[in-house]
Amino acid sequence: MASFLAQGVDAVLEATGMDAVDALRAFFLLAAATTISVSIPSSLRSRFLVYGPRATSTDSKPQSRPSAGGASISRPLDYLATWRVPHSYFTQFYIASVVSSVFWAIQLLCRGTLFEAISSRVSEEHRVQTMSLTQVLVCWILLAMQGSRRLWESTSFAKPSTSKMWFVHWLLGLAFYLAAGIAIWIEGSEALMNFNLTLDYIKITRAPSLRTFICVPLFLMASGMQHDCHHFLFSLEKYTLPDHPIFRAVVCPHYGAECVIYLSLAFLGAPRGQSVNKTLLACSAFVAVNLGLTARTTKQWYLEKFGGDKDDLEQIKSRWLMIPYIY
Ligand SMILES: NC(=O)c1ccc[n+]([C@@H]2O[C@H](COP(=O)([O-])OP(=O)(O)OC[C@H]3O[C@@H](n4cnc5c(N)ncnc54)[C@H](OP(=O)(O)O)[C@@H]3O)[C@@H](O)[C@H]2O)c1
Repeated sequence: MASFLAQGVDAVLEATGMDAVDALRAFFLLAAATTISVSIPSSLRSRFLVYGPRATSTDSKPQSRPSAGGASISRPLDYLATWRVPHSYFTQFYIASVVSSVFWAIQLLCRGTLFEAISSRVSEEHRVQTMSLTQVLVCWILLAMQGSRRLWESTSFAKPSTSKMWFVHWLLGLAFYLAAGIAIWIEGSEALMNFNLTLDYIKITRAPSLRTFICVPLFLMASGMQHDCHHFLFSLEKYTLPDHPIFRAVVCPHYGAECVIYLSLAFLGAPRGQSVNKTLLACSAFVAVNLGLTARTTKQWYLEKFGGDKDDLEQIKSRWLMIPYIY
């Protein structure tokens, strides 16, 4: 199976003439650009982008959609938009994330065929400045923690819901988590190809760098905050205007936390001589675009659903979307 996949990866990279690092960055940036493009016309945004609680109106029926400028166009779009899957399928993203973390740990340790197929397609330019093995290890542990925590939350904080998302959103989410599993190590492929496994790699012999000293606590704080937000949303019995202190200042603090989580990985994984890991930065850009657009529709949804009262309306308007004083 792994060697079949390795041949496939190799054939695709050969056909496109792309370096594996560039291909991965292009995937994240193209996905972000496509999401932005779909968000611009309201006829596409309301049909394909809006998901979860935002895609339900006050009477829990799908929101009415603006006409796309004629039944001949709107009918096929409407039909496509009915291909929806439950919002709870998010759990599958985290299963994919955890499985991918374990799979890559085995591939990297055993120098498996898929690891070799991808690493052999990393150009000299990206090999010269490599992540250290310690960086790969720390980033891998943090991403595995993130996937495992989200998997645990999405099963233990699950509540009955009929909310849905478009099937392409679900496929893109799966592709994102599988790609993130590769992004976490690909810029360290040179170090990974040349290491001999000894216990020295797990001994802490040096003080953590300033970068580690800042980014790891940042990652952990953002994870803790995101956990609290998810727990709070879980505690709400029906769709409510969240009144938790964090939500009173920010519409989607859990989305802001997610951006901080991925950004801290991008800085932690900076290869030697660089200030940031550009593959993980592209991955963070996708996260920020995706969540930034969803935070916008969430604010709109709160305004429509809970903005009847003048005080609530003013309070919702004053909320930041994801991160106070930034967005
Ligand atoms: N890495 C990425 O690209 C990416 C992309 C998307 C999401 N995420 C992360 O995944 C996590 C979940 O994202 P999401 O988009 O699913 O979050 P969400 O839409 O806010 O929903 C999370 C849960 O809270 C419920 N909920 C939301 N607003 C509510 C309200 N006002 N009242 C009562 N319940 C409410 C939802 O109910 P329903 O089940 O009824 O919908 C769902 O169960 C977030 O932390 C986010 O950062 C990451």
